Amino acid sequence: MRLQGRSALITGAARGIGRAFAEAYIREGARVAIADIDAGALRATAADIGALPVWMDVSRQESIDAGVAETVAALGGIDILINNAALFDLAPITEITRESYERLFAINVAGTLFTLQAVARHMIETGRRGKIINMASQAGRRGEALVGVYCATKAAVISLTQSAGLNLIGHGINVNAIAPGVVDGAHWDGVDAKFAQYENKPRGQKKREVGAAVPFGRMGRAEDLTGMAIFLATPEADYIVAQTYNVDGGNWMS
Ligand SMILES: NC(=O)c1ccc[n+]([C@@H]2O[C@H](COP(=O)([O-])OP(=O)(O)OC[C@H]3O[C@@H](n4cnc5c(N)ncnc54)[C@H](O)[C@@H]3O)[C@@H](O)[C@H]2O)c1
Repeated sequence: MRLQGRSALITGAARGIGRAFAEAYIREGARVAIADIDAGALRATAADIGALPVWMDVSRQESIDAGVAETVAALGGIDILINNAALFDLAPITEITRESYERLFAINVAGTLFTLQAVARHMIETGRRGKIINMASQAGRRGEALVGVYCATKAAVISLTQSAGLNLIGHGINVNAIAPGVVDGAHWDGVDAKFAQYENKPRGQKKREVGAAVPFGRMGRAEDLTGMAIFLATPEADYIVAQTYNVDGGNWMS
């Protein structure tokens, strides 16, 4: 019960890694609000795991403001934020569309920054020594031939984590990030389908290849990330500031 008495808001938590974070936080005693743009999955997951459902589109400021206000009113405040909502897309550089670029940056970068900002303002106003965790990716550590825009958004998340971490620690708020490698689930089914299209591979092959290449010997599972997400939210992590931790089975070393 390492998070007993704490309230958390987790974006993009109707499924996948965000859902696993929410379940782990609830097991550790936290009250959890899950936010997502997918209203149906949000309702179903919230009912399943005993979380508060908060409909939110992190690419829209008024939606962020309303979602944060709703969470504060229902849970009595926010001690922990996980900025987890994100979108993936893939295309060769010559085929990237402005629409895809703007959508990914609006969700992955602006969504992260302005949700962080809204929650940080609340934490400062209420004198909370809060914890903010951003979801980066190994994709933010380097470029990839077909993944230019997503990689750039995750590099921006790592950079924002550094700046926000340095700025907000003065208020006792820790900002850090987690960089997963390849994590199985709906997200990677979509990634696999897009690689199949551009690399002429049968569906499922890209997933098998990336899984076999992980030094640990398999793709990650959402549950592989929950330990770090819990640790970074506890007082044991008070002295950790502006860092991005790889949790990736050894896929990337830095
Ligand atoms: N799965 C991986 O291999 C992997 C690897 C590295 C990093 N990550 C990162 O981990 C996080 C979670 O990934 P996942 O695999 O669980 O993804 P996922 O696609 O399974 O889940 C993402 C959730 O975000 C929600 N979402 C999308 N747009 C939104 C918006 N505008 N507002 C609110 N919610 C929105 C979706 O509805 C979905 O429920 C993401 O930040 C992702 O970039 C994933």
